[in-house]
Amino acid sequence: MVRDVHAFCLRILEAGDLQSKLMPVPDTEGEPLPDRAPSAGIVIDRPARDPEIRLEAGVPPLPRPGELVDGAARASCLARFAHHELMAVELFAWALLRWPALPQPLRHALFIALQEEQTHCRLYLSRLEATGSRFTEHPHSDYFWKHAPAIANSPHGPRAFLAAMGLTLEQANLDFALLYRDAFREAGDKASARVCQRIHDDEIRHVGLAAHWLLRLSPQHRGDQRAAYEEAVPFPLSAARAKARRFDAEGRRRAGLSESFIEYVRTARSPQELRGRGQQTSSGGA
Ligand SMILES: [Fe+2]
Ligand SMILES: [Fe+2]
Repeated sequence: MVRDVHAFCLRILEAGDLQSKLMPVPDTEGEPLPDRAPSAGIVIDRPARDPEIRLEAGVPPLPRPGELVDGAARASCLARFAHHELMAVELFAWALLRWPALPQPLRHALFIALQEEQTHCRLYLSRLEATGSRFTEHPHSDYFWKHAPAIANSPHGPRAFLAAMGLTLEQANLDFALLYRDAFREAGDKASARVCQRIHDDEIRHVGLAAHWLLRLSPQHRGDQRAAYEEAVPFPLSAARAKARRFDAEGRRRAGLSESFIEYVRTARSPQELRGRGQQTSSGGA
């Protein structure tokens, strides 16, 4: 049985099987699992993964919302979302191992978020099973893990993690969760739609956690979320990746994001979009 947060996180990263990664915190009779981290942080490049859930580069794109009328597209989508949650579980464990000296309330909040990511993964997996499909039949993109080296090597340390995980990937998930909630509902899969809604609501807390602690750890920015984010977010992540085409401004407000930061994210353009716009302008003018 794991005895502390450190051992719990190590198991998630060192065990290659899904069951070990999703194993709940042991019953400690109402007491929190002790968090007596060693003083030196551990950097783990990649999580252990058994062959049937190995990480792959270049997996097919996520089905578009309109494609979810097709059962195979719904299964593919649920498998992808379950895997995003699994990577979130692993990355929260990774951060807890990487930075043992974080303030205790932040470590506690990250540990609670990790456990919620386990629940999210299980929720999507149970919907996937209900479609008659298995998680191991689907490819598993290494998308989140590709950013771990940039976070690990960032001079901004845990602030890079909060900006990347909470304020980019999870912020974008607020939009994706609602976009796909409606798509599942329109396809007649109300149970999956409910799971998307539940996860959306939890993710608001995770985005809020990142926003709160990024500012606490960035006193030089005096409460300016945009400045703190811009400084800490590790390339190639940026505000252009912190959203989807449906933009959930209300969820962001509930997470404590400022109006100016929300507007900054809403109008952010990726380098590709800016290049495309430049070409359009120049061809339009020719
Ligand atoms: Fe999640
Ligand atoms: Fe989350």
